[in-house]
Amino acid sequence: MIEFSHVYKTYSGPVHALKNIDLKIGKGEFVFLTGPSGAGKTTLFKMISAFDSVTSGNVNVAGFNLSEINHREIPILRRKIGVVFQDFKLLRDKTLFENVALPLQVRGDKNVFVQRRVHEVLEKVGLAHRHDQYPEFISGGEQQRTAIARAIVHQPGVLIADEPTGNLDPRMSEEIMDLLEAVCAQGTTVFVASHDLEMVKRRKKRTLELKDGMIVGDLK
Ligand SMILES: Nc1ncnc2c1ncn2[C@@H]1O[C@H](COP(=O)(O)OP(=O)(O)O)[C@@H](O)[C@H]1O
Ligand SMILES: [Mg+2]
Repeated sequence: MIEFSHVYKTYSGPVHALKNIDLKIGKGEFVFLTGPSGAGKTTLFKMISAFDSVTSGNVNVAGFNLSEINHREIPILRRKIGVVFQDFKLLRDKTLFENVALPLQVRGDKNVFVQRRVHEVLEKVGLAHRHDQYPEFISGGEQQRTAIARAIVHQPGVLIADEPTGNLDPRMSEEIMDLLEAVCAQGTTVFVASHDLEMVKRRKKRTLELKDGMIVGDLK
């Protein structure tokens, strides 16, 4: 589902953010990416979602070779990927329902389908009863659950979450991790970056460790 071979990413400076990354993540796997701040986790995720391009090497995601992808194909790739961020990135002037509906409306789905699918997904993350609420009136954990709903509403094959519990207290973090595992159990490949080593250890999942832009560990 996700494959990197000999991937390097160098920013001007130069900053060698990724060095010779080789990795393979299969369909339906749950994998953590750990490493201290500055190790290259966000950079690696940007390569997967095609928000930035590699300096050299190859990245393959959901059947797309990202070195050869053209601009018209990028929206098609993005429909196969869901992305969750540390700071939720919900639109403040839209209700939870409207936030989650957005990816479906962008691709032109019919209103009847959008209504049904958004309610189904809000139900799944335990927020159906709050669909009319605005993000600022719900807790951080609920905002992140809404962001996960938005990331999976279009049924992507891959979900990437960059420090999804970074702004949450321990109890809410556990809820979010349970939810991400539930998403994986339904067949989605889930890749989660976190520097919270204790939390990662408790979850007993495959863990890739990044250090100074290199993969220095691949446990389990
Ligand atoms: N757009 C950029 N321009 C220059 N340097 C960058 C840019 N983005 C990230 N970096 C650098 O690349 C390295 C890896 O950063 P990042 O991927 O954000 O690490 P992490 O997410 O693990 O904290 C850091 O040294 C960071 O300063
Ligand atoms: Mg980061």
